[in-house]
Amino acid sequence: MTELKNSVDYKQIDEILAEYNHNKTSLITILQRVQSIYRYLPEEAMTYIGNNIEGLSPATVFGVATFYAQFSLEPKGKYEIKVCDGTACHVRGSMPVLDAVKKKIDLKNGKMTTENGMFSLETVSCLGACSLAPAVVINGKVYPKMTPDAVITIIDTILKENE
Ligand code: FES
Repeated sequence: MTELKNSVDYKQIDEILAEYNHNKTSLITILQRVQSIYRYLPEEAMTYIGNNIEGLSPATVFGVATFYAQFSLEPKGKYEIKVCDGTACHVRGSMPVLDAVKKKIDLKNGKMTTENGMFSLETVSCLGACSLAPAVVINGKVYPKMTPDAVITIIDTILKENE
């Protein structure tokens, strides 16, 4: 149903490493490329990169990946839902929207990605679209003036498209 990749393709990582001459100064770009394939950084991939770039180690790669917010160490869903909880969105009701999303996609055990890999959810601080508060972003598209009902309708549409 989803395109979430579960096993690491070392050949593909080798190709990326070769493109950047196994150069440690390109580590961030290499990690960005790998993340764009898996939608997160699998531990095996980080270990492999750390073992195959001179001057680095798996621990260094892991340290860099955890330092930068742009990297995710957990699988993301096919649809990444970001609910803004900046001040403007918060006062205009982002929390009920967030609760409605959580309930609708059925997040369990404090996880932020659904078990089927379809959705992941996170809150973000101001998206710079306060006049559209409360705002939700799904895979880069901004949905303005959200209400619990409106966000549920959007998720229903996505689910239908993926039937
Ligand atoms: S606070 Fe949500 S867009 Fe600014």
